[in-house]
Amino acid sequence: MPPVSRGRNGKKRKDGNGTAARSQMVSGRESASFGQLRSLLGAREHKEAVRDQFEKRAPSYDSYTVWNHDKRLIAETLRPVRALRSDAMCLDLGGGTGRLAERGRRIAGHWVVADLSFHMLRAVSEGIPLVEADGERLPFQPDTFDLIVECSMLQYADRDRVLSEAGRLLRADGTLTIAEKVLGDYEGVGAEWCIEVARLRNPLKHDVPTTPLFASLLRGHGYSVESSVELRRIYRQSIEEWISRAGTVPAKHQRRLRELINDPPPEVEETGFRVDGDYMHIPISWAVISAERAVQRPKPSLVVSIIPTRLVDDRLHIYVQERRAPVVREPDYFGSLEFPQGRIERGENFADAAKRELLEESGLRIRRPIRIANISTTRHTGGVTIEAVQPNQVVITHGRLNYLSLVFIVETSGKGAPTGAIDNRGRWVRREELSALVTGKQVYPLNQPMFEFVLANADSIERQLQADSGHR
Ligand SMILES: C[S@@+](CC[C@H](N)C(=O)[O-])C[C@H]1O[C@@H](n2cnc3c(N)ncnc32)[C@H](O)[C@@H]1O
Repeated sequence: MPPVSRGRNGKKRKDGNGTAARSQMVSGRESASFGQLRSLLGAREHKEAVRDQFEKRAPSYDSYTVWNHDKRLIAETLRPVRALRSDAMCLDLGGGTGRLAERGRRIAGHWVVADLSFHMLRAVSEGIPLVEADGERLPFQPDTFDLIVECSMLQYADRDRVLSEAGRLLRADGTLTIAEKVLGDYEGVGAEWCIEVARLRNPLKHDVPTTPLFASLLRGHGYSVESSVELRRIYRQSIEEWISRAGTVPAKHQRRLRELINDPPPEVEETGFRVDGDYMHIPISWAVISAERAVQRPKPSLVVSIIPTRLVDDRLHIYVQERRAPVVREPDYFGSLEFPQGRIERGENFADAAKRELLEESGLRIRRPIRIANISTTRHTGGVTIEAVQPNQVVITHGRLNYLSLVFIVETSGKGAPTGAIDNRGRWVRREELSALVTGKQVYPLNQPMFEFVLANADSIERQLQADSGHR
């Protein structure tokens, strides 16, 4: 079995017998709704009751759950996986026995399953990391996942909390896909029947909702809905198995359920519901909705980066900086290597911005720009995409950092002190030192292609400096 990491506090939970008994007691009430139950039990105890229920259902969950084998539902829920990079991070939230993660990882991405129930997680395939945790409060860093999928878990949890937690964990451009049972064709009396049946079978769940409700919940949490389908399925199910559901439905409820199943209103029969001996054909609709975290996307900041060079004893030296001040928006990059750079100010042209930034950060002046050959690379690293293209050496990083930089390789003069507020420490390095320096340190993503370029083209930069110094 794969390793299980326990929740935030890392504590092994208590057995929860008290809660189980209480939930049994409460579920003895006629048709309690999720809201009534949560307020009776309290949120924590409701959660304990959900967990206890799934601990009990776990051994027979996969064989018993008919929609677990619904290929169309699975394909629809995993549709966004096809657009992912192979190194994308994906979370199967409330993933139970990990059916979605198992299929998803065959397509793309690194998958993790998080669930309240340890016994459900025990059935997850080898090699998929597991986290025993509450989906309303998950032990992951912000901006961790490119995709979060959940199937049939939201109905047990505080939906607002789960959606906002998913928003915290999704990277910019990340997708959340939810697959939840909805009323679909059950309308009017049919909808009442459906809600009554669902409440009796499992009072720990929300009342069966509608697709528009989910869409509006998502929008309310700042997601933009990218796609939404309602899948109408008819599942053939053993009546007795369905009514007892691994022994978790109280006897009193089972009696009433049998009545409702055997004598449904005509509106229910119109949906395609029918009893066939020991089996029933029950229409179930699924809302499968994919939404993106609607990020207020800043326009890429236009930046100039300056790669200062000079000759010392006819050999190339390069000026590099280390970030020293904690940059509030980018704390991850404290201490990383970079070149002098900064935003272009209103009304400034590129050359003036480059002169000003260089002087402010290093006290150096531009003697002349060095012409360089093409660069054209793309790579993904640490959650950002870096593209460097010719002819202007424009570098764009998507995602958390959103910069577009115009790069100048320049010969410098002067040794003055920096004139601006300094949040870095600069020094000259010989070209021979640069490779070891870059290998041993984190490089600020915007500058990665620039360092690589200098390393790959040190000879030609040096030759150009030498040629020009010969003319002077
Ligand atoms: C009906 S099962 C669905 C399992 C799986 N997603 C699937 O499609 O087979 C619901 C799952 O949600 C989990 N769950 C319920 N509330 C949760 C919560 N607050 N946090 C994490 N998991 C939760 C349960 O433990 C259970 O495994």
